[in-house]
Amino acid sequence: MKGSFFRSLLLRKPPERILEEAGLGIEVEEKPKLKRQLRAMDLIFFGIGAIVGAGIFSVIGTAAGGDLAHGRLPAGPGVIISFIIAAAISGLSALCYAEMTSMLPISGSAYTYAYASLGEFFAWLIGWNLILEYAVGNTAVAISWGDYLESLLRSMGINLPAFLTNNPGTIKLSTDIMLGTPHLFGVPILTSDHLMNYLTKFTQHLEIWWSAPQIFGYPIVFDLLAVLIVAIVTWIIITGIRESSTFNNVMVFIKLLVLGFFVIVGAFFVNPDNFKPFMPYGWKGVFNAAAIIFFAYIGFDALSTVSEETVEPQKNLPIGIIGSLVATTIIYIIVSLVLIGIVPYSEMSHVADPLALAFEKLGLNWGALIVSIGALVATTSVLLVFQLGQPRIFMVMARDGLLPPKFAEIHPKYGTPLFASIVTGLIVGIPAAFMDIATVAELTNIGTLFAFLMVSAAVIILRYKNPDVPRGYKVPFFPWLPILSMLASFWLMLQLPTITWVRFLIWSLAGLIIYFAYSYRHSKLRRLEADA
Ligand code: ALA
Repeated sequence: MKGSFFRSLLLRKPPERILEEAGLGIEVEEKPKLKRQLRAMDLIFFGIGAIVGAGIFSVIGTAAGGDLAHGRLPAGPGVIISFIIAAAISGLSALCYAEMTSMLPISGSAYTYAYASLGEFFAWLIGWNLILEYAVGNTAVAISWGDYLESLLRSMGINLPAFLTNNPGTIKLSTDIMLGTPHLFGVPILTSDHLMNYLTKFTQHLEIWWSAPQIFGYPIVFDLLAVLIVAIVTWIIITGIRESSTFNNVMVFIKLLVLGFFVIVGAFFVNPDNFKPFMPYGWKGVFNAAAIIFFAYIGFDALSTVSEETVEPQKNLPIGIIGSLVATTIIYIIVSLVLIGIVPYSEMSHVADPLALAFEKLGLNWGALIVSIGALVATTSVLLVFQLGQPRIFMVMARDGLLPPKFAEIHPKYGTPLFASIVTGLIVGIPAAFMDIATVAELTNIGTLFAFLMVSAAVIILRYKNPDVPRGYKVPFFPWLPILSMLASFWLMLQLPTITWVRFLIWSLAGLIIYFAYSYRHSKLRRLEADA
């Protein structure tokens, strides 16, 4: 009895069935196929579109500047090495993703791969964690968007009230810092620069609390702009948006143009003294920062979804994946060199618009204005990708019976999953009003890395269990590459602060409760097996 319960948790959905359900089964061979027209360069461009966003425009602040009181050691200028480490780990996962998508080219992503290989229970866990990648990730991107819009308005002389443009989460963190004395192995670790920086922020933040309007004696502070962009993007995706490559290309062009502008203008103001010491907190600081800056690479998994449309995927897909990771890494390194050259790393902790801050510091308000516009474009394009992706994952899970059928309903007029999109809007928008960007980015990273780990495991399992299902692309150095990818993802997860692990475990526990309370009992696959 017990044995059969555990066996039923590991119920696998055979790849053949998945393909059949998606209308891609062997018997529908004559169905029109996607046209293979993407080449390596197209893929690289597509990758940059999905990848470059809040990571380089915002999260870099915490990666370089750290947050000592909360166990985030700063990398300082060493953040450059953190970027390389995060890129290498992303590259390994990306190749595993490529094999899985070329085998199961349907929406649902890692969730579907896990259903085919590791069984329903793990599929659920991954689907649940993909919410961290897509929805919670977008919360971070929305916070970044809000901060850059505020910078933009500020550089145009428009100052919004502070209680409408700040996240209580960030304010609370700076209060914590001042109330507790941060220690590392019993040694106080605040440098005088850090202390001054925290003190300034603490005073600013106290002012925000004091000046905020109150309801029943509680000050009301929230990030209105972040909520606003989530509402707009949700409305756009509900009323229907086609993923258009022209639109993507224009966005990519603007992003690169603005980052290029930042580098060229900023280069004149670089102060070499800011690079000393290069790794103020040693390798530990660099590794901690790699775990948070990994956020800047999330999105490359979108690349693997176009394997069916790629010319010679066996050759072009890895070139496209590695190429876009190398391209973004080079962009990120150059931008961070200039940024750190202008703003000392210790001033960057808890700043969600560091690139604009750099130009403001130099008195170049027009520069801050241009950078802010670029950041808004970059983050909007990332927001759209993820805000579109999340409801589709919900939809696939609902079709399998693991979520209520309402999530799979398509609106008759708009032709989009209305309910799933609204739920996504709420999951993204509500925390965007209150939470701190670094906290949200770390939660995103741990969930995403867990999903990546599972995808690498799925590659290995399916090679043995379903060797005959055709794959458009196979990872080289099997099984060593996927094994290395699993270990590397896990290692990066370990670099995240303990509190992130606690939040991750609580999140996973909530997922388990929902699974056993609802999904296990409503699973269509389980019913089919029981009837058979
Ligand atoms: N890589 C994406 C970004 O940085 C998530 O916004």
